[in-house]
Amino acid sequence: MPWKAKDSVAVVTGASSGIGKCLTQQLADNGCHVIAIARRADRIHQWHASSPLSGFGGVTPIAGDITKREVRSTIRSTIETHHGGKLDLLVNNAGIGGIGRFSQATPDRLRQIMEVNFFAPAELTRILLPSLQLGSAPVICNISSVLGHRAVPEKSEYCASKFALHGWSDSLRAELAPDGIQVTLVSPSTTKSEFFDSLIETDPNQQSRSLGPWSPQRVANKAFTAICKRRSEVILSLGGKTLVYADRVAPALMNKILEQRPAAPAAPPKSGDR
Ligand SMILES: NC(=O)c1ccc[n+]([C@@H]2O[C@H](COP(=O)([O-])OP(=O)(O)OC[C@H]3O[C@@H](n4cnc5c(N)ncnc54)[C@H](OP(=O)(O)O)[C@@H]3O)[C@@H](O)[C@H]2O)c1
Repeated sequence: MPWKAKDSVAVVTGASSGIGKCLTQQLADNGCHVIAIARRADRIHQWHASSPLSGFGGVTPIAGDITKREVRSTIRSTIETHHGGKLDLLVNNAGIGGIGRFSQATPDRLRQIMEVNFFAPAELTRILLPSLQLGSAPVICNISSVLGHRAVPEKSEYCASKFALHGWSDSLRAELAPDGIQVTLVSPSTTKSEFFDSLIETDPNQQSRSLGPWSPQRVANKAFTAICKRRSEVILSLGGKTLVYADRVAPALMNKILEQRPAAPAAPPKSGDR
């Protein structure tokens, strides 16, 4: 059975910009009611002004940090209070990154990236599973990255977080199949969003190399289709597919190509371990 947006209830994290904002709009335009979450209150409350859209779904904005337990509880209680505890779609989209050598970063970069990109979506999913069990053809859509399939240098923390999301998604998909809940892993390549404006502990001169970035709208369109078709996994761009399949066929060659010499002597981390 395909997933249908009309009259469904969805949660989208990271709905204040980029892919999450475009996907929220697309879901609402197709008659889905979206509970939209992000930290920037001014941005997220703009959804109220523009919703409900004429006769269609509408958006309930929640301003908050998904790494906070109380924010995740507010999402759950909103579903219980306003939607009879039923949820049809959870999109774990919120994400952050950082660029630079592991040896030159503090432990905070790893901790923050893992908290937002892995622990928060895992824990949000945990508390929303009872609601998803009540949904129609329910889907958990995890927005990962091609870097969750093939790791590259200078993004070790980000790659680790997306590999974790990938492995957890595969395991959860198998566990939840008997309950009729699909887990859809969407892996975009570089996307022209605000993602690169808020990189953690990153030299502002750092550039992310890419073969033709996609627009967030194009990524959201593909994610929407993958959700409706209840796909298990989609790798979006041709460059991304090439990277992932080349790595599957010739991992040793890929390791060689990606090997790096340090540009400068590795500095010690700036704060103590924890
Ligand atoms: N851009 C790329 O090149 C690219 C490539 C592959 C995969 N992706 C993945 O795509 C997803 C969306 O990224 P994007 O490109 O659309 O970037 P974006 O425009 O920066 O959007 C990220 C969203 O996450 C939200 N967010 C960040 N930390 C949060 C937190 N602690 N709690 C709640 N919301 C939080 C941000 O809103 P607030 O700041 O208002 O909280 C924002 O709405 C991410 O998972 C990213 O890893 C991106």
